[in-house]
Amino acid sequence: MIRDTTVLMNEKRVFKPSEEIKENALVKNWEAEIEKGKNLEKYWSEKAEQFEWFKKWDKVLDESNKPFYKWFLGGKINLAYNAVDRWIKSEKRNQVAIIYINERGEEKKITFYELYLAVNKLANALKNLGVKKGDIVSTYMPMCPELLIALLACTKIGAIHSVIYSGLSVGSLVERINETQVKVLFTADGTYRRGKVIDLKSIADEAVLQCPSVETIVVVNHTGTPIELSKLSGREIFYERLVEGEASYCEPEPMDSEDPLFILYTSGSTGKPKGVIHTTAGYMLGTATTLRYVFDIHEDDLFWCTGDIGWITGHSYVIYGPLLLGTTTVVYEGAPDYPDPGVWWKIVEKYGVTKFYTAPTAIRHLMRFGIRYTDLYNLESLRILGTVGEPINPEAWIWLYKNVGKERCPLMDTWWQTETGMHMISPLPVSDLKPGATALPLPGVDADVVDGKGNPVPVGKGGYLVIKKPWPAMFRNLHKNKERFKEIWSEFPGCIYNAGDMVRKDEDGYFWIQGRSDDVLKIAGHRIGTAEVESAFVSHPAVVEAAVIGRSDPIKGEIIKAFIILRGGYELKTKLIGELKKHVRHELGPVAVLGEIVQVDKLPKTRSGKIMHRILRAQEMGENLGDTSTLEE
Ligand code: PRX
Repeated sequence: MIRDTTVLMNEKRVFKPSEEIKENALVKNWEAEIEKGKNLEKYWSEKAEQFEWFKKWDKVLDESNKPFYKWFLGGKINLAYNAVDRWIKSEKRNQVAIIYINERGEEKKITFYELYLAVNKLANALKNLGVKKGDIVSTYMPMCPELLIALLACTKIGAIHSVIYSGLSVGSLVERINETQVKVLFTADGTYRRGKVIDLKSIADEAVLQCPSVETIVVVNHTGTPIELSKLSGREIFYERLVEGEASYCEPEPMDSEDPLFILYTSGSTGKPKGVIHTTAGYMLGTATTLRYVFDIHEDDLFWCTGDIGWITGHSYVIYGPLLLGTTTVVYEGAPDYPDPGVWWKIVEKYGVTKFYTAPTAIRHLMRFGIRYTDLYNLESLRILGTVGEPINPEAWIWLYKNVGKERCPLMDTWWQTETGMHMISPLPVSDLKPGATALPLPGVDADVVDGKGNPVPVGKGGYLVIKKPWPAMFRNLHKNKERFKEIWSEFPGCIYNAGDMVRKDEDGYFWIQGRSDDVLKIAGHRIGTAEVESAFVSHPAVVEAAVIGRSDPIKGEIIKAFIILRGGYELKTKLIGELKKHVRHELGPVAVLGEIVQVDKLPKTRSGKIMHRILRAQEMGENLGDTSTLEE
């Protein structure tokens, strides 16, 4: 859904950083840093010195086979070694690395040394299971310490991880596991959500019956309730049993800079989600560097990103960014409003969170409860705030800035994607801030707005958001879909990356993101393709055809509006509506929030039979239908 930034850009309020922020900031001169970043190779290779390399790189950037760019060629490095082992040789050895907290108020603190032991034991255990460099391991787990340990253990031995969000359904699990030929799957008995325990294991059990590649299922007894291992699969082992007796040292696998690190599925405009591949050194560099500068990370920081590890935000900024900087990271399992809408602020006060990174949808949800809950707690520890995942409306921006940040904390509206791996467009703490704008491309990033032919567009005019130069954490390929990967890079001349978003730049060069330019929806910040929802609809016996678009929603940003053609004999009554909602949710998980279902006789299509979503969207917004020459009738 495209938001109207003409109205938004009338927003003329500018918020300036305080003297204190400016004095403490790692980057004091924003413009000068952007200037430095223009020399890409110099900029990123200087930043790459922050890591311990087993072997230094021979070449910073190889552009000889576009769009298959390569960074830090010839380098040898290991992520887990840099995120964990490195710190136990320093004064951080006994510093808390992870604070796990759940909605029941239970907590677990894990020091870097304890994390080191746990990662090594599990890494050795995985090796004993026969997992080798390049094998794929999946997780279907709650936000819990074992999830972080599992991912780090994979990176230690060079296994590729493919995290599956714990809200996804059996079908999504089967599809992802079979496509990547997963060898080991980690799961848990359940996850806490608003006072209930959501059963994950029975979903995993059902899925693995259809997944012959899975040799072992590792089960974490997370909730502590007695569980029985499924007799059906006979491939299961408890986590505790698996690591029992394992040695506390595991040699880190020296990975090539360009060895794959993980695969993460995300929705595109075609039917099936795509497996985005990230590689080792560039991803490490991109996440650590952007976290350091955007959130101005110092030694005493306590960083909390509320994103789920099932998505890229959690990969980059719950686990890898913070641990690569030796920063304590908060891992929270639960909803923002349970047991009450003050739960997040209570955590900020209790633990002294200094940097807080969240999603606009959560803020809009919490705004409904007024300032009663933000006022109940002392939020003085906070220094910088951030949001991600969808455009933030100025009202939500101001609410967060005023009531949580108390007008002291700069708010970083960070634009990026699963594909970019790292923040791409964002202010820095010393920047002037405009509510609703993501400010400028970060140092070392070259982003722009172009028209359909790839030409720059004038100030204030909408266009496509593109990235013109390679960046270290860029995705390197799509799993088993090289052709689609190449297409994404060739839609505009000059091999530039089409991000799939519409954007406008203002007179200061600030980016105002309007929304997706393709058939991808953003529901509460979650990404879902219209084609996926449509195929979920037509898999119900009552539905012949379906077309879906996004409908604006005050809390979730957008939700699904579906136009369906019913099979003869069916009527769209309350019972069927309920059934369809349940069916789509079962197929796609709770991410698919259905707002409205409308019965129609026909759908607007091109002569070749493609649904013209554009026409439906224009109709929904009461806009001119535009060029209808390709419309069948
Ligand atoms: O449309 C943009 C939106 O989220 C998309 C990427 O989604 P995903 O890969 O799931 O990653 C989300 C977390 C990084 C983008 O194409 N988006 C992300 N951040 C912003 C945003 N839209 C506006 N403002 C943002 N700050």
